Amino acid sequence: MKPPSSESTAWIASKPPLLRFLDRCLADFSAETGGNVADYIPELGKADPAHFGISLATLDGHVYEVGDTRIPFTIQSMSKPFVFALALDTLGAGRVEGAIGVEPSGDPFNSIRLNADNHPFNPMVNAGAIACSGLIHEAKGDGAYEYIRQALSRFAGRELEIDEAVYASESVSGDRNRAIGYLLRTNAVLKDNVASVLEVYFRQCSVLVTARDIAIMAATLANRGVNPVTGEQVMTPYAISRTLSVMTSSGMYDYAGEWIYRVGIPAKSGVGGGILAALPARLGLGSYSPKLDKHGNSVRGIKVCEALSSHYDLHMLNRSDDARHSIIADYNIGKNPSRRVRRPHEQNILAAHHRDVRVMELVGTLTFSKVDYVSRELAAKPRPQFVIFDLRRVAAMTRAGARLLAEEFRELELHRVTVILSGIRRSSADWKMIREWTGGISNLRDFYLLDAAIEWAEDQVVYRHGGAIDFHEVTELSEQPLLAGLTPEELAGLNALGTLRSYRPGEKIVAAGEPAASLFFLMSGAVHVTLPDGIRLATLTAGMAFREMALLESHRSADVLTDRAATALEVPLSEYQHFREAHPRAGEKIMRNLAQLLADRLIVANTKVDVLTAS
Ligand code: DON
Repeated sequence: MKPPSSESTAWIASKPPLLRFLDRCLADFSAETGGNVADYIPELGKADPAHFGISLATLDGHVYEVGDTRIPFTIQSMSKPFVFALALDTLGAGRVEGAIGVEPSGDPFNSIRLNADNHPFNPMVNAGAIACSGLIHEAKGDGAYEYIRQALSRFAGRELEIDEAVYASESVSGDRNRAIGYLLRTNAVLKDNVASVLEVYFRQCSVLVTARDIAIMAATLANRGVNPVTGEQVMTPYAISRTLSVMTSSGMYDYAGEWIYRVGIPAKSGVGGGILAALPARLGLGSYSPKLDKHGNSVRGIKVCEALSSHYDLHMLNRSDDARHSIIADYNIGKNPSRRVRRPHEQNILAAHHRDVRVMELVGTLTFSKVDYVSRELAAKPRPQFVIFDLRRVAAMTRAGARLLAEEFRELELHRVTVILSGIRRSSADWKMIREWTGGISNLRDFYLLDAAIEWAEDQVVYRHGGAIDFHEVTELSEQPLLAGLTPEELAGLNALGTLRSYRPGEKIVAAGEPAASLFFLMSGAVHVTLPDGIRLATLTAGMAFREMALLESHRSADVLTDRAATALEVPLSEYQHFREAHPRAGEKIMRNLAQLLADRLIVANTKVDVLTAS
């Protein structure tokens, strides 16, 4: 093997800019030595204050790591959002929301104070978190901690374990939390034995994580509950969105207002030194550095979040979305017909009614605003009979976008417009989502290929205007555009040289790569011309020629297959040469006709390119 050149070595060493940014944060904030390691739980006091790790997980499942991202530490209060989400999904929103409030308390995490209804202010302060552990205990009894551990593990994408020493230390020193537990019990928020519930709470706080785990857990929150590394839907989107809501208002305790004002990313801290930040639809961040400020938040972790938010302008309330980029092409079938080669009477009908079929090719993520924009653009021009929404470049759909799209289909049904979708598979998640709201509507069709969708709509237009497409019709050679202008004698001469052949549906008439030895004139039925990779170049019906390019070159790159039973006149090229010699004028007319057909095809191809490249 050749050793890599110095140039390629340099390329391998290249770093994504986001990784370089995290490197800089690690270097810059390592100099920050303020704060104190928590020691109210004696075991926590043993943490090494020099440890510093930052990890960022993207929603496509990439995990950046700088510094001490594999050092285990206890999750502490960062367990609270996950156990709240678990309680919502396990006991139901009604039960959980009836027991625990969602208002910020403005108090420190361990405040012994309930709201005016004698319920915890929110699930992020200890009172609310202990109430959540109590709810899980109600549902799972002695299995409550194990149930929580398994849920936390699904968020992290690996089996998490407990730090028994921290658990024992916290249990010994946890009287303040016991006081909160008794307060909750006397107010009937806790129904079970206080000691058992506190054991669950202390254990869940003592689960060991790394900065990497926290980043993945945060990314799962940012990703509507789907772990971006394992792909598992860990919790329902409802539970996740409500969890992020309380993280936004109360995740940083009596620093929460300032935090959301300055940083604008839902977050949660733990006295073990961890900070978890989840920016919806963007990223999850986990940092570990044990020295805490007076609110109990990691000093360096806060700096990292502030830097990330300000450097990349990630404040979640500082967003915009320009819906006008959602339509990449918008046209009718006048200049952009299907690849079906039409006979003159069909062409005339389609030319007169080309505005009946409107095609909108959409791109990107279909959001609420984008679908709204599309519906207004559609309404801004005269009503078509058919509208094709091509979704092959649509990367994703939000629920709001899918719902608005379904409502648009209903509106179009009211106006008797048929909707045709292309570029979306029925097995896809997006299709299933749209179908949630399209029950009972009858104006919806789908074809995976845009060309097939356009062809179908064209057929409907032809039918509606009296041009029935009769696939059983038998045509004469005189109707062939390639033979236009030939005299009856010339046509008879050509006919005499050919052999009439019959083909079964699905039969391959000629294969790609074969030398082109004959011309074919389709007399009845339909065939299609297809590249070996399945792309359909054209559909031909009776009256059309194929392999006509054999007049110019000998090898062809496409297959020709019958769609339905077909008959064709096969004229071997060798015979055609004799015909040309005997009828030079006819030979010249055929070449002129071929040039005209190619020019027409080129116009169509150029128009398609123009439509897609127009800004
Ligand atoms: O309740 C406690 O004391 C701890 N086990 C958790 C507290 C905590 O992490 C507060 N957050 N910054």
